[in-house]
Amino acid sequence: MASLQSLCTVVAPNPGHRTATSSKPFSAKPSHFLTHASRRHRFQVSCKGVANQEPTADGKVDRRNMLLGLSGLYGAANLVSDPQAYAAPIEAPEFKACGEARDVATGDLLDVNCCPLPSDKIIDYKLPPVNKMRIRPAAHKVTKEYLAKFEEAIRRMKALDKDDPTDPRGFMQQANIHCAYCNGAHDQVGYKNLDIQVHNSWLFFPFHRWYLYFYERILGKLIDDPTFVLPFWNWDNPKGMQMPKIFDNTGSPLYNANRNQANRPPAIIDLGFSGASDDLQKVVNNLTVMYSEMIRSVNSTIDFMGQPYRAGNSPSPGMGSSERGSHVAAHVWVGNPKNKYREDMGNFYSAGRDTLFYCHHANVDRMWSIWRTLKTDVPKDITDPDFLNAAFLFYDENKQLVRVKVADCLDHRRMGYDFERVDIPWLNYKPPRKAAKAKVETISQGAQKPEDLFPLNLKKITRVLVPKSAKGKADEVLVLENIETDTTKFIKFDVFVNDEDDNAEELDKAEYAGTFAQVPHKTKDKKGKSTISLRLTELYEDIDVADDDTIVVTLIPRSNGDDVTIGGIKIIPSPPRSG
Ligand code: C2O
Repeated sequence: MASLQSLCTVVAPNPGHRTATSSKPFSAKPSHFLTHASRRHRFQVSCKGVANQEPTADGKVDRRNMLLGLSGLYGAANLVSDPQAYAAPIEAPEFKACGEARDVATGDLLDVNCCPLPSDKIIDYKLPPVNKMRIRPAAHKVTKEYLAKFEEAIRRMKALDKDDPTDPRGFMQQANIHCAYCNGAHDQVGYKNLDIQVHNSWLFFPFHRWYLYFYERILGKLIDDPTFVLPFWNWDNPKGMQMPKIFDNTGSPLYNANRNQANRPPAIIDLGFSGASDDLQKVVNNLTVMYSEMIRSVNSTIDFMGQPYRAGNSPSPGMGSSERGSHVAAHVWVGNPKNKYREDMGNFYSAGRDTLFYCHHANVDRMWSIWRTLKTDVPKDITDPDFLNAAFLFYDENKQLVRVKVADCLDHRRMGYDFERVDIPWLNYKPPRKAAKAKVETISQGAQKPEDLFPLNLKKITRVLVPKSAKGKADEVLVLENIETDTTKFIKFDVFVNDEDDNAEELDKAEYAGTFAQVPHKTKDKKGKSTISLRLTELYEDIDVADDDTIVVTLIPRSNGDDVTIGGIKIIPSPPRSG
């Protein structure tokens, strides 16, 4: 076996932090974040090749063999926890092999052919040099001049559908990119039985970043303005918590009738599906959701980015906190509940038909950007080569088919764009600390032990007595394992700890631990399985667990609890944070 040292380099974590895109200084951050960070200097291992490894039956090198050799340097337990770890990235699909896309619920053929036209020539994309940074504006603040450009660009994109339906830059062609990459039209190269799925995994952020990048360049090309940028829907800020008005003008090409009419302005978005009727409560819930999914509940890079997804893996290994949180919520909130599959925004195959989709995803993209500037103790970038070398194909603004890699999109500034600086009000939006310690004995009434409840079908609000791994305020995560869902349904449930009142409308409280959600999507057997981890360390401070060795976890179904079965629940010491 070749020496691992010759293949792998060990690097100390980068001590340099950029500042956040906020008007608030980071010194406002509670000091325990900083102490954590300095106490937990970790080392990253990066490996160039995997020569001299025994290939497995399907010709792939089994990463586990290689990584076990590193256990002296790096906690092996973390790495072998991915049983399907192969050293190969997801390859770009073969457009020639693109097949049918199927309806999520029935498996019936969709009445759309989402396959892109193949091309014999594929160019490995090189990012052009950045001459001037283009700044994406917040949608609720755009100027008249900007709006006129944006509308004209979309008008021309829609016109292409009629003038030249084979032009890959047309509006429907662009919308179908999303359908093909998530409704099973593209197979994994070399794995006929495995679909490519760009959601529910670590490919989520990179795929959508590249998708928007070319969409934006195409719009710019169509109006002959290479400085054109997409706007972002600033739903993480109270000023942007309505559907942006520029998308709600019925005379505009940005308008789409296939939206939930009840949620047109001035309705306030409900990122937590709290069902709160009061607008102010919705706003504070939203800020709480943001703080939770970006900071409080996140223990590792993977928790935020999504689970590893490599060549030969089944699709949809699991969403990161942002994907399953605010991202899913906005899709479902905009989609039209009168349609069978909540089209357009409420379903993958149709989401790209709504212009608001690209504005929503520009903010999702911005969340990834902000995440990388946060000074928490979690490493911000995944260094795994199977992540960095994963590839996609897109048509660029000149109708050339290009192959792009994840590694080239980690820093959007290298891609020539940045975001307008707006306040980030959730950055320090910690829920109020509990004044008094919860009466665990009282809350425990009606709670059952995991072994008596699991696997648990989440039909109703359920309280579980979960043993801690250590007494009191330990650095721990709550793991909900093998969450089995009907993938054709919108699924959502929330998790609270030592909650006394079970008031489901209030998320802005110390007991809120996090959320699970899923947008309907097609898989071959209609069943999806995933596991989520929610960090409890800060929550313990806020609710004061004293020296308890058990907590009461309340699981609140928000949507289709009947179709969720949770395999197991446990609390473990925080695993290594690296992705
Ligand atoms: Cu590709 Cu928000 O979905």
